Amino acid sequence: MARGDLLKKLLVAYNRGEDKAFKEISMEIIKDERKKNHNVLADQLQRILYSEHSTNRMFRDFTSLALVPKDDDEVPLIEIRKSNKYLDDLIISKDNKTILNQILEEYWNSERIKSYNLRPKLKLLFCGPPGCGKTLTAEVLAGELGLPIVYNRFDSIISSYLGDTASNIRKVFDFAKKDTWVLLFDEFDAIGKSRNDPNEHGELKRVVNSFLQILDSFVSNSLVIACTNHEGMLDTAIWRRFDEVIYFGPPSDDDIPLLIRKKTLGFHLGEINVENYIDQLSGFTHADIERICHEAIKACILKDKDYLTEDVFSQTIRNQRRRLDIYRNEG
Ligand SMILES: Nc1ncnc2c1ncn2[C@@H]1O[C@H](COP(=O)(O)OP(=O)(O)O)[C@@H](O)[C@H]1O
Ligand SMILES: [Mg+2]
Repeated sequence: MARGDLLKKLLVAYNRGEDKAFKEISMEIIKDERKKNHNVLADQLQRILYSEHSTNRMFRDFTSLALVPKDDDEVPLIEIRKSNKYLDDLIISKDNKTILNQILEEYWNSERIKSYNLRPKLKLLFCGPPGCGKTLTAEVLAGELGLPIVYNRFDSIISSYLGDTASNIRKVFDFAKKDTWVLLFDEFDAIGKSRNDPNEHGELKRVVNSFLQILDSFVSNSLVIACTNHEGMLDTAIWRRFDEVIYFGPPSDDDIPLLIRKKTLGFHLGEINVENYIDQLSGFTHADIERICHEAIKACILKDKDYLTEDVFSQTIRNQRRRLDIYRNEG
C-alpha cells in the first residue's frame, strides 16, 4: 500500500481508538521500512510501538498491589518492574546475538507464525556461570519487547512447607496467565534440582514435577525465562521443556575491549589502550570487568583525575584477582 494511504489508515485507527488495527498498520509501515533497508528506523519504530503499549497497560492495570500473588503470610511472591535495558547494553557473542534477534523476530511476528500452526520461541533456559549476563539479557528482552518483567521471588516462593511451595508456584503462573510479561525465574535451581539426586527429599521432587507440569500446560504470549548457574544439576526432562537454551560464558578476547569501553562510558580512558588488557582480563566475567572499571573510575575520582590511569587500572585488576582468589579458596 502506498505510504499516504497507510498514514491515513493509521490516523483513522487512532481516531476510532482501534488498538489492534493501529498496531497492524504500524507493523506494516515498519515492514515497509525494513524492505527499504532502513533497519535502524524500523527497530526504533518497533521499540516505540511495543513499549508505549505496555507502559500504558502497566499503569492502567497493575498499580494495585492487591493483584500481586502473595504467600500465606501475605508476602508478595513476585515483583513487577519496567525494564530500561536494551540490546545496546549487552556485550554478547555473535551466536548468542543471533539467537536473541531470532527470539525477538519470532515474538514480533507471532501471529504470522501461529497462522502456520507453529509456535514462536517463548520458553527459554539461560545457563552459565554467574556474572555473564543471564539476568541482564532477560531484562534486555523485556526492554526490547516493551513488556513488564515479573521477577519471581524465590525467598518467598520456597516455603519451609514444600506443599506450600507448589501452591505458590501455581499462584504465580495463574497470575501470569492474566496478561503478557517476561516471566523470570532467576536462580531457578532453587526449584529445579535434579530429580535423580538420591539425597533429594521426596517432596522436593514433587515440587519439581508440578513446576514442570505447570510450565508445560502454560499457554500464553508471555516470554518465560529460567536462569541457572548449575545447568549440570538439571535433568534432561527440564531441558526438553524449553524452546531455546542459551549458554552465557565469560567475554571473548574480542569482547573484552568493547566491554571496557561500555563500562567506562562517560569517563575519559586517558592513557588506557583497552586492547592492551585482553590478556590480563581473559577469563574474568562481565561482572568482574564491570566492577574493575567502576572501581578504577572511583579511585581516579578520589585522586582528582578526570581520566583513567594505567597505574590505577592495573592495581584495580590485581585487587579483583585477589578477591576472586579468596572466593575460590573459600569455595
Ligand atoms: N554480557 C554482558 N554485557 C554487559 N554487561 C554485563 C554482561 N553480563 C553481565 N554484565 C554486568 O554484570 C553484572 C551481573 O550480570 P547478571 O546479568 O546479573 O549476571 P548473571 O545473571 O549471569 O549472574 C550486571 O551488572 C551486568 O550489567
Ligand atoms: Mg543472575
